[in-house]
Amino acid sequence: MPPLSNLAVRDIETLVHPYTNLAALRDTGPLVLERGRGVFVYDSEGKAYIEGMAGLWCTALGYDNEELVEAAAAQMRKLPFGHLFTAKSHDPAIELAERLKEIAPVPTSKVFFCNSGSEANDTQVKLVWYMNNALGRPKKKKIISRLKAYHGVTVAAASLTGLPNNHLDFDLPITGILHAGCPHHYRFAHAGESEEEFARRLADELDALIRREDPDTVAAFIAEPVMGAGGVIVPPKGYFREVMKVCRAYDLYMISDEVICGFGRLGTMFGCTALDFEPHSISVAKALTSAYVPMAAVTVPETMYQAMLDESRKIGTFGHGFTYSGHPVAAAVALKALEIYARERITEQAARKAPQFQARLAALGQHPLVGEARGLGLVGAVELVADKRSKGSFDPKAAVGPRAVRFAEEEGLIVRFIVGDVLSICPPLIIAPAEIDELFDRLGRALDRTLDWATRERLMPA
Ligand SMILES: Cc1ncc(COP(=O)(O)O)c(C=O)c1O
Repeated sequence: MPPLSNLAVRDIETLVHPYTNLAALRDTGPLVLERGRGVFVYDSEGKAYIEGMAGLWCTALGYDNEELVEAAAAQMRKLPFGHLFTAKSHDPAIELAERLKEIAPVPTSKVFFCNSGSEANDTQVKLVWYMNNALGRPKKKKIISRLKAYHGVTVAAASLTGLPNNHLDFDLPITGILHAGCPHHYRFAHAGESEEEFARRLADELDALIRREDPDTVAAFIAEPVMGAGGVIVPPKGYFREVMKVCRAYDLYMISDEVICGFGRLGTMFGCTALDFEPHSISVAKALTSAYVPMAAVTVPETMYQAMLDESRKIGTFGHGFTYSGHPVAAAVALKALEIYARERITEQAARKAPQFQARLAALGQHPLVGEARGLGLVGAVELVADKRSKGSFDPKAAVGPRAVRFAEEEGLIVRFIVGDVLSICPPLIIAPAEIDELFDRLGRALDRTLDWATRERLMPA
């Protein structure tokens, strides 16, 4: 192991890193990034990497968009802070809410701003509770999410998240949050079950769960169109059609978590359009500002807004909001990002590049280490397995995913491993066709090196 740089040593002594093995970090140190350009980022030694994850599924416009920088600087000079509490307002927030209402994939009455995907989903939970109190059905409060869902880490959002590491030793989930089955055909379909049959079974299981819990107590269902951090899981054919039938039958409020899928990632402006379902509300974040500054939003349909009006009339205020809800600098950057998405036809561009991206991804399915290569639009993943035929996973202690990530970084590519040795790929939407090829060339070399290493370590069956 090479000696740690000065910055790396200072990092270890000062920072708590999210989603990091804090013990292992003390030996390996962090990868310290210094600057970015296009789809590339550069570390403190000057080495270039393709940012194959757009940061955390978010820097849609890459790393050197001057228009976004200018929008932030101009707003900072004009009104660097303004809030929306106690009937105050400012034009960037008003204009952004108008714009989001125009482009939202579902009828939207109002927009509520917050700062992160987690805050957006916590807000969704609170708005559902608030609405059902206003509507005189105080028992209808449970929210159904799904195993392997990722909806964030604040207390309610982490409870919605269906991943063990977000619950273990945090005393989560809170009561009233339920998890339905995960729509991953490769892992959870029965032998010989078609995608459509699997989708119908999941919907039947959802129906049974609701009836077991008592439909009068179940309020909402939340889903990512394509699951992201749970493993880039594309649902089986017909899944949302079947699930939406169940939601409608029990009058559930349906929330599409568009934090990753929103703004072009799947080749459509919003993920629910690609997956063909109509929620009542969406949560957006990340690419809303191309991640140059934090911002998120929740859309509110008219029926919910009317209920909120009643409730706030009764209580005297709508008692929810963040200091930075609708921050003018973030709103100005978001407005500029949305202008660029429309002007440069970023969604159409993503749709045009998707076949090349998905073909290169699918080809990795032939690799001896890859059990399944899957994706949609410009997002994908490869699931690494010890045994392709039995789909047997590696022992997590062997840390194959982290090793593959390290080889990829040596090859000049940033990818992420997520639960179960899944490597995810989600580059900036502006990636050029030649850069897509380069990304997959580098990933292929990293997988070859991982295979050599795993064979030497006798991690593969003989
Ligand atoms: C689908 C989804 N929802 C919510 C979140 C949480 O967002 P944040 O990390 O901004 O709180 C994420 C983050 O990756 C996400 O992918």
